[in-house]
Amino acid sequence: MSKIEELLKADREYVWHPYTQMKDYEQLDPLFVERGEGVFLFDVYGNRYYDTISSWWAILHGHNHPLIRERVKAQMDRLEQVHFAGTTHEPAIRLAQSLAELTPEPLSKVFYSDNGSTACEVAVKLSLQYWKQSGRPEKERFISIERGYHGDTIGMMSLGGVPMFKGPFDCLTFNSQRLPAPYCYRCPMGLENHDMDDPEPACSLACLNPLEEILAKEADKTAAIIMEPLLLGAGGMIAYPKPYLSKVAGLAKEYGLHLILDEVATGFGRTGRMFAYEHCGVTPDFLCLSKGLTGGFMAMGATITTREIFDAFYDDWSTGKTFFHGHTFTGNPLSSAAGLASLEVFEQERVLDRLPGRIDALVSGAAALSDHPNIGDVRGIGMIRAFEIVEDKESKKAFDTSKRIGWNIYLEGLKKGVILRPLGDVIYLFLPLCTTRQQIDDILGRTFDTFRQVLPG
Ligand SMILES: Cc1ncc(COP(=O)(O)O)c(C=O)c1O
Repeated sequence: MSKIEELLKADREYVWHPYTQMKDYEQLDPLFVERGEGVFLFDVYGNRYYDTISSWWAILHGHNHPLIRERVKAQMDRLEQVHFAGTTHEPAIRLAQSLAELTPEPLSKVFYSDNGSTACEVAVKLSLQYWKQSGRPEKERFISIERGYHGDTIGMMSLGGVPMFKGPFDCLTFNSQRLPAPYCYRCPMGLENHDMDDPEPACSLACLNPLEEILAKEADKTAAIIMEPLLLGAGGMIAYPKPYLSKVAGLAKEYGLHLILDEVATGFGRTGRMFAYEHCGVTPDFLCLSKGLTGGFMAMGATITTREIFDAFYDDWSTGKTFFHGHTFTGNPLSSAAGLASLEVFEQERVLDRLPGRIDALVSGAAALSDHPNIGDVRGIGMIRAFEIVEDKESKKAFDTSKRIGWNIYLEGLKKGVILRPLGDVIYLFLPLCTTRQQIDDILGRTFDTFRQVLPG
């Protein structure tokens, strides 16, 4: 038995992979990755794959970016980990300062954690405790969005709206008010699609009427609304109109509740701007970050909030206003060093300035596929494009789930050197920011070939 076969046998024996029906590995080995470089992953057999999903939406500047690698190595020679209560260190201080400088004025306090779910949990807990300590203890409810996703902890499942992920756990979750998803292709209000950039959508954003109704009745009892700005990621890569976000932000302010923006996926240039909220000129009370925070190199989460929130916790110990929350790897020095290096790459390589040309190539190239009889919708923002696969374009009827269309596309994509990990029947490209125009053309070509091979139309 070769070493590779031995390891694969041990993988089957001992490893339980996330979001995976392990039985599928009876038919197919997991992609056995040996190394990464730029936009590519290489498997142990020497095959090359475009990392078309940025390794779960994390890698920004490509795998193994030399500057980030050097900074993490140098940090490793000094300090690899230290608890973050009662201690501090230079990389975490400098990263917090840089994040505060990157974000608009009232956002100035950075609470570190170690992943995206915890970054959101922290925001929810801070919001609740803020109201308790600010003479409004009855503000205990949260509003979230159908098809929203904020992670897999019990708390974040409570505020998430992807039924498949919540399945048996519903009995453990807390109730939140759920708004209909701004899913224009399958409008929950039965109205027409419209352009994401249209400042006055023809539908008048009717899907937000329920929010106004909830607020009129329950704003006094509501702590916050949590949402992913401009793109519901795991819920189906649903890009939604900018005025939706502006309107929610306006209503949150008007009715006195916190706005929690989960930019775990959209942060750090993915949408063409550093943060998605910048497209709409809104400022959240809490900004949740992870994934691209370290350029995708290391695990880290951060929740950025305002001095006003911070001040409600700042008092003598005896008042009991401490925020009792923390994770072992909070503010990890290696992750912080990676985060700082990633921000340096943004400057050195003028990453944001280079994006418009790349985004144009992706948008126009992807649009060419909208004629395909099984592509019902092509949507996205920035370096993200999604294709919703349907059996019948006219009726928007989906394929029977037993056909596992998304999975079959994934398998065929691997043969063509692209990782088209599906979200149900939605296939998407979530490209590293360093992907060149030429690479974008090549990725689109391989993706289209894959569709042609698998889809009946
Ligand atoms: C918007 C959003 N929030 C939160 C999370 C959870 O992050 P993590 O998997 O690091 O806990 C994700 C993960 O995909 C996400 O896309």
